[in-house]
Order: sequence, then structure tokens, then C-alpha cells
Amino acid sequence: MRGLAGKRVVVTGGTSGIGAATAQRFRDEGCEVVVLARTPGPGVIRCDVGDRLQVDAAFEQVGDLDVVVNNAGVSVRSPAADISQDQWDQVLTTNLSGAFWVAQAAARRMLLGAGGVILNTASTNALVGYRYYADYNAAKAGLVALTKSLALEWAPTVRVNAVCPGYVLTPMQEAEYTPEMLVEVNSRIPLMRHATPEELAGLFAYLASDEAAYFTGSVIVMDGGETAGSMVSGGGPGA
Ligand SMILES: NC(=O)c1ccc[n+]([C@@H]2O[C@H](COP(=O)([O-])OP(=O)(O)OC[C@H]3O[C@@H](n4cnc5c(N)ncnc54)[C@H](O)[C@@H]3O)[C@@H](O)[C@H]2O)c1
Repeated sequence: MRGLAGKRVVVTGGTSGIGAATAQRFRDEGCEVVVLARTPGPGVIRCDVGDRLQVDAAFEQVGDLDVVVNNAGVSVRSPAADISQDQWDQVLTTNLSGAFWVAQAAARRMLLGAGGVILNTASTNALVGYRYYADYNAAKAGLVALTKSLALEWAPTVRVNAVCPGYVLTPMQEAEYTPEMLVEVNSRIPLMRHATPEELAGLFAYLASDEAAYFTGSVIVMDGGETAGSMVSGGGPGA
């Protein structure tokens, strides 16, 4: 992708799933990639994104950067009536507050330097309601609103966009399915399959590149048609 080679890229939660594929894609594009994660590993800076002090300390180590992909996230399936304060705090802190601490720490450097790109991983859960994920839905919807506000404040120096994946077959997601459940979910997606982490990684690479220089404040949905109709089931006969 045009303009990516040599860029310094930070991916949060980049040790598994979409984050790992995204880190690899940016390496393949000739970027220097730093992963912020809670677990140690090569090229990893230890960081819980929900802890602002850890985020600031991690960005001290990162130094100058061009791109950040806010990928770290967590969801817990639970009826809304049963959500505990601990669960609510964990889901909101990781998916929303953490993304803000990371964006803020990155933008403070980007605004002083040559600018940059911030990409936030929201979800189709930000756009339509889903049962049993009230905290996650609220956090991801907040992330979409946050994206638009930051895009306005930091334009024209920093571009800020949100990506809303639909179902993505990451190892963690796959572990939640029986083979029958996977077939059933696929049957409700118009393209009849989950996205791959590599497809999301390609979208992040595009949005970070010069090819996407006119994207800011955008909410880009990649969901195989899941939310295209008025029924998430893929469209019934119509009311
Ligand atoms: N898989 C899907 O179907 C799907 C759909 C829509 C959106 N998403 C979003 O995509 C992102 C990646 O999800 P995934 O499916 O690859 O899941 P995943 O669980 O494989 O990856 C999430 C990563 O975030 C890390 N993480 C969690 N809390 C953290 C914290 N406090 N600090 C630092 N790292 C933390 C985890 O350790 C993990 O490496 C998430 O934001 C998720 O909400 C996923």
C-alpha cells in the first residue's frame, strides 16, 4: 500500500486474532511494528490499555510513531440484568477508556510531529443492538462517537477512523462455537461466512496508507452484509 513502508506502527492487543494478523500485515508492508500487550513476547511492550499510567509509560518507550491501531478489546456474554459492576468496568475500561488513553498518548506525539493515523476497532455491535452484550455494545458505540470527535479536533494533522467488523473467525471466537453453531451463524450472514483476521488487517493497512488520505471521522463497516438489512437474520420477507 502506498506510503506505508518505513512507518512506525503500534498495534494494541497485537498478540492474537485480528491484532496479530494486523501486526503481521504492517510488517509485510515494510513497517516497524510495536505491539502493546499484557503478555510478554518479542517486539512487545507490556501494557494494560485500561491503565492510563501504563499507557503513558508504554508510549514513552515507543517514542515517535505514525500509526496506531486500537485493537485490544474484550467481550463477555451476559444478560444485562446480571452484569456486575466489575464486568461493566472491565468492558468499558478496555474497549472505550483504553482506546482513548492510547489515542491521546499517540496524538500528543503525532500532533507535534509529522501527523499520523489512528484506527479504532469498534464493531457492528456499535451500530445495532445485540442481546447479552449491553456493556460491549455501549462501549463500542461510544468508541464510534469518540472517533468522530477526535477526527474533528485533530484534523488535518491526524486522521481518526473507526472500523466495525462483523463476525471474524479468530481462535477465541472459534472456541466459543460448536461446529453446529458456526454453521448456524454463517447461515445468517449474507456472504455466508465469517471474515478472516487477514481481511481486517488488509482494511487497516489500506486506511493507514496514503491511498486512504481522504478518510477521517469515517465509520467503515466490514460485515459481509450482516447489518445491511433491517433484520440481522439476513433479511426476511419484509414487513
Ligand atoms: N472477532 C470478532 O468477531 C470481532 C468482531 C467485531 C469486533 N471485534 C473487535 O476486534 C478486536 C480484536 O478482537 P479479536 O477477535 O481478535 O479477539 P482476541 O481476544 O483474539 O484479541 C483481543 C486482544 O486484546 C488483548 N487485550 C484485552 N484486554 C486488554 C488490555 N486491557 N490491555 C491490553 N490488551 C488487551 C487480548 O489479550 C487479545 O490479545 C477487539 O477490539 C474486538 O472487540 C472482534
